[in-house]
Amino acid sequence: MTALPSAGVPGDDVLAEVRALRKADVPTHGGRTLAYVYDSGLAGVDELAAAAHAAASSANGLDPTAFPSLLRMENDLVAAAAGLLGGSAATVGSVTSGGTESCLLAVLAARNARREVVSPNVVLASTAHAAFHKAAHFFGVRAVQVPVDAETFRADPAAMAAAMDESTVLVVASAPSYAHGVVDPIPEIAAAASARGVRMHVDACIGGWVLPYLARLAERVPPFDFRVAGVTSISVDLHKYAYCPKGVSVLLHADDELRLPQYFASADWPGYTMLNTTLQSTRSGGPLAAAWAVLRHIGDDGYLRLASDTRDAVRTIRAGVGAIDGLAVLGDPDSTLIAMRSTSPDFDLFSVADEMRRRGWYTQPQFAHQSSPVNLHLTITASNRGNEREFLDDLAASVTAARAAGPVAVPAELATYLASVEPDALTLAEIKALAAGASISVTGEPAPMAGINALLAEAPTALRERLLLGFLSSLYSP
Ligand SMILES: Cc1ncc(COP(=O)(O)O)c(C=O)c1O
Repeated sequence: MTALPSAGVPGDDVLAEVRALRKADVPTHGGRTLAYVYDSGLAGVDELAAAAHAAASSANGLDPTAFPSLLRMENDLVAAAAGLLGGSAATVGSVTSGGTESCLLAVLAARNARREVVSPNVVLASTAHAAFHKAAHFFGVRAVQVPVDAETFRADPAAMAAAMDESTVLVVASAPSYAHGVVDPIPEIAAAASARGVRMHVDACIGGWVLPYLARLAERVPPFDFRVAGVTSISVDLHKYAYCPKGVSVLLHADDELRLPQYFASADWPGYTMLNTTLQSTRSGGPLAAAWAVLRHIGDDGYLRLASDTRDAVRTIRAGVGAIDGLAVLGDPDSTLIAMRSTSPDFDLFSVADEMRRRGWYTQPQFAHQSSPVNLHLTITASNRGNEREFLDDLAASVTAARAAGPVAVPAELATYLASVEPDALTLAEIKALAAGASISVTGEPAPMAGINALLAEAPTALRERLLLGFLSSLYSP
């Protein structure tokens, strides 16, 4: 199909084509996809968001004086996030395109505020989101990864304090971490950062809109927000637990002096003075207006109910996973994310993921990293309330099927090859050939991924990155 036919196609037909293409995707609603998507399950929210998106998508956040509606809505969203996360009258922020952009900007602001540092570094708990590695890669900052506690997967405040030096421009911890769903000991880390006069960022991209409500429901939520002394910035994604359409996150700073180094101005050309608050310049008003509409429609009471439903689903699923022979929850999650590990060598979790996919569920494989073993990640949302039993029954059946199939074996000669190959020496053509040999396909029926995942699990990190980049490159080849 061409995106540019010689004669235009009628609108209704084009929409039908889009809907037909979308049929190959994992479902975004109904709680069957336990990563990537967030579904409130509330009737009418999607339609409202789409209408608000359409009403503002042609407006350009590049110039808030020309589009005061976007300025108003952005200030409202920032104020709402600050209110939820213990901000003060001084708290300011920016609406960004997503969690990664918020994390990138937190690093950029910290680096730009310390221009005198020749070789700046960011001290990260090793469980911090990969967005911070991307920031380090983009902005010429060194990521100093500090191992977390080997059993709880929580950051180690003493080790983080010891890792800081005079070139540290930012310290990062999570509330919670994506991989294990645990909240790092923020007060201790923030105190150590503050004692050195270093900025401290709390990555609450995934937890920032649900932890405050869980706390109001009397759940045990460790302190993590601006009420903790020394926290200078927080990221919180509205396209996650605020259940807004994709493309909206908020980066909060404790005050406007902290935020300013994130901004960019250039008057040194003959066009308009370019003034940017974020990485984007032209910014669609669509996601912003959609988020504003969703927040106003769901309201504080609505989010409390959604958090209560999510909490109930998490409890049931967590207990149910623990009751399945061969599975256990990794660590002691503090929020709405669960990582399941295998307790038995006689089956493979990658096969369990395939079996679940065949039964209509998406669970996300996570590879081993330091003390964290291979596991399957679950992001649980309000729409999982009510389907927990079906999920757990299918999970138990998937484990049984994976056991019957036995563990996936990587051929010995392939394992030897993986251990010896120099990642940068692999050409794109070689990677393409490998992918073709593994018959990976992203169209039609979901292909079994256990073999390829076992192979990737065997590959050292740098090789895994190289293989997957090559695969990505072959996917994006029209
Ligand atoms: C803790 C955390 N930080 C950052 C991100 C990146 O967010 P995004 O995918 O919106 O860029 C995520 C995404 O899951 C996350 O969980």
